[in-house]
Amino acid sequence: MAAPIYVLNGPNLNLLGQREPEIYGRDTLGDLQRLCDEHAARIGASVVFRQTNHEGELIDWVQEAGRAAQALIINAAGYTHTSIALLDALRTLSIPVIEVHLSNPAAREPYRRRSYVAEAARGTVSGFGALSYTLALDAAVKLACT
Ligand code: DQA
Repeated sequence: MAAPIYVLNGPNLNLLGQREPEIYGRDTLGDLQRLCDEHAARIGASVVFRQTNHEGELIDWVQEAGRAAQALIINAAGYTHTSIALLDALRTLSIPVIEVHLSNPAAREPYRRRSYVAEAARGTVSGFGALSYTLALDAAVKLACT
């Protein structure tokens, strides 16, 4: 069995479904996890799906992914735009890193236009809601095989 794909989610994504639904939609984090598990099974992969509100924990999990995953998909939420420590952790990885967002930060407030995560990612999928995650899974499987 191939190593899993880690799907890591940052702060406030535990509130999906209630949090600004006009931007992030009505699906909960549990719905998103189910979608990722089902999609991964369809494409012959498995997923470790987690969420934290804490920067240090997210960094610990990025380091763990470096040891245990075939690829990392990360929605760092607000830390995307602020965390050099997270960027430093991502830069230590040799597995493919894919940045995801539910919304399209490039079309929102100016402070969301800078992504530190993007500097360590092979690519970014954003603006498609939950579909951003399944597209990222497709890309992760292809990248991990090449
Ligand atoms: C987000 C976009 C970020 O700018 C924001 O801070 C989030 C969610 C997204 O998935 O659209 O918390 O990462």
